[in-house]
Amino acid sequence: MTSEGQPFRVGVLGHGTVGAAFQELLEERAGAIAAEVGLRPEISGVLTRSKGDFAEILEGSDLVVELMGGIEPAREYALATLASGRHFVTANKQLVSRHGEELFAAASDAGVQLRFEAAVAGVVPAIRVIGETLAAAHIERVHGIVNGTTNFILTAMQRTGVSYEDALREAQELGYAEADPTEDVTGKDAAAKMAILARLAFGTPVHVDDVPHEGIEEVTAEDIAYARELGLSLKLIGSAERIDGGLSVQVYPAFLYAGHPLAAVNGSYNAVTIESPAITEITLSGPGAGGSQTASAVLGDVISAMIPPPFTPSPAEHLPLVTDRESAFYMHVEVADDPGVLAQVAEILGMQGVSIESVVQRGIGSDARLAMVMHPVLESKFRAAVDLIGRLDFVRSPPRVIRVIAETFE
Ligand SMILES: NC(=O)c1ccc[n+]([C@@H]2O[C@H](COP(=O)([O-])OP(=O)(O)OC[C@H]3O[C@@H](n4cnc5c(N)ncnc54)[C@H](OP(=O)(O)O)[C@@H]3O)[C@@H](O)[C@H]2O)c1
Repeated sequence: MTSEGQPFRVGVLGHGTVGAAFQELLEERAGAIAAEVGLRPEISGVLTRSKGDFAEILEGSDLVVELMGGIEPAREYALATLASGRHFVTANKQLVSRHGEELFAAASDAGVQLRFEAAVAGVVPAIRVIGETLAAAHIERVHGIVNGTTNFILTAMQRTGVSYEDALREAQELGYAEADPTEDVTGKDAAAKMAILARLAFGTPVHVDDVPHEGIEEVTAEDIAYARELGLSLKLIGSAERIDGGLSVQVYPAFLYAGHPLAAVNGSYNAVTIESPAITEITLSGPGAGGSQTASAVLGDVISAMIPPPFTPSPAEHLPLVTDRESAFYMHVEVADDPGVLAQVAEILGMQGVSIESVVQRGIGSDARLAMVMHPVLESKFRAAVDLIGRLDFVRSPPRVIRVIAETFE
């Protein structure tokens, strides 16, 4: 037998959208991989809820791929695989964002690889680039559009002016959103992915529950229309950045100016922008989900695991997590159409040290409203001003607030 014929046995846990596509892709590419790597990958067993036995699959495999989702039994199978001295590849963001430290330690103890490229941004190679290509760079900030469902909805709202509800319905009809879209539209899914990216980029353990997240359910077609007049487009942004010796990790809807690399990422695409003084910025973008796309990222991890040396994230640092940080903001206020209204709003903002960058004033009588963009200011100061503005007699409903990312790279 030639070395190209020697098998590399891959056990597959889960055979749904991604698992089935992974098996198909591996079988299609096995010959080409064998020619390059010198080992021929083959499926040694498949586990679903109705077939297969984990212990048997583990025994007959050199590497286990987990494509089931959920925490248990995925965590138990991951730990058993790593403890047995076998590599483990997963697409499971919940598992890695909740139990990453336990899994990294188990992989390191056993001297085997734990890979999870497909857990964040599908086929976009953010994990590999942050963990390997940029291992020597001092990363200052990672910004991501890491949820394709919300990006599809926001893009539809911006292109056609439809309401959030109509855009969500369209996303569901086209299969971009689940029947229950809660995880996506509340920002929870993106928070899990940002916890993983932050751990890799900054070497600090970040649990998904430590990531404050806001979703897109409150966004109105009106906000988007006003913002367009101000040259802004709306994205659900995951952000992880060094601030004052600490680390801020958050998910929130934010307006971007056209020059920002993430402003042009539309539809269900994902993208990650990495900023470091040594490299300025790198933006990676591509499909964030889909069976064959995700399977491609998983197979890439399998091939990497077939070729030593092992990859494990650097030992943990412990940067303190920061929650109050500077940002520019958009604010929309419905007001009575009285003289001096803008002056009073401006005075309150000024008292809190918030300066106005631009204002759009529209409507008359009971339809009067202000849309404003502020220069960057500490969030706590801006929220204090918004609270005071919301109590003014002439303000007809609570002000709506969305962050604005002011930087561009041109
Ligand atoms: N779909 C995507 O585009 C995408 C993108 C990126 C990452 N991911 C991640 O990839 C993973 C799989 O997603 P998917 O969309 O392929 O899911 P899916 O279509 O629901 O398939 C899940 C598979 O896992 C099996 N399974 C679930 N619980 C099990 C258990 N306790 N024991 C044994 N088998 C079990 C199911 O078995 P049955 O067949 O018996 O039900 C099914 O075959 C998830 O972690 C997901 O977050 C998916």
